[in-house]
Amino acid sequence: MAMRLDKYLADMGLGTRSEIKKAVRKGRVSAGGRVLTDPGAKVGPEDEVLFDGKAVTYEPYVYYMLHKPAGVISASEDRRERTCVDLIDETRRRDLFPVGRLDRDTEGLLLITNDGDLCHRLLAPSRHVDKVYYVRVSGRITEEDVHRFAEGLQVDADFRAMPAQLRILRSDSVSEVEVVIREGKFHQIKRMFRAVGKEVLYLKRLSMGSLTLDPALQPGTWRRLTAEELAELRKSL
Ligand code: URA
Repeated sequence: MAMRLDKYLADMGLGTRSEIKKAVRKGRVSAGGRVLTDPGAKVGPEDEVLFDGKAVTYEPYVYYMLHKPAGVISASEDRRERTCVDLIDETRRRDLFPVGRLDRDTEGLLLITNDGDLCHRLLAPSRHVDKVYYVRVSGRITEEDVHRFAEGLQVDADFRAMPAQLRILRSDSVSEVEVVIREGKFHQIKRMFRAVGKEVLYLKRLSMGSLTLDPALQPGTWRRLTAEELAELRKSL
């Protein structure tokens, strides 16, 4: 699939269209061994494109596993705030977005990609993709809470949650649990716990479908998905 040279380089995050046009006109880019000075010249994935002598391979889709830290927002770009996409510092691609949202104070697994189709399938309400969270809450979690979550909790007048699994890890004045939900309503976990009289103190997403947060990733760090993780995720949808 041939495309304009400036689009090829912009898609690969080498700068804005106008920065790239300038660089091309200055003769900093070559393809197939020839310097190209026309930003509109057509190139394809088979051409060896060099920018300042460095190879730029065309990758249509990229997939990053981010351990989102608290304090960043789940958006692609924001004029004032640091976003989860800003943390992917190996690229200046402008087409990346997070698959779904985590609250600013929530940590954990966030898939960052430019694959709209996969994103759509992961988030489609009809697919009921499992999301697992680790939660610390104020107050004692009881078997009664487990039961209420399992039956489908009436969260408020307009929202009855689908059945969710609660696994108690520790029940005390502060409790720890793992929760599995199959939908993704706004502030869902916090609202569910509030409905049983508890306050969420800490929230971390551990998995989404077949994709599990790599325990080696510290908050704020990322890695690319492995080929196996991507194949597994696609297969599960
Ligand atoms: N539920 C919440 O309340 N917040 C999140 O960030 C994710 C799920």
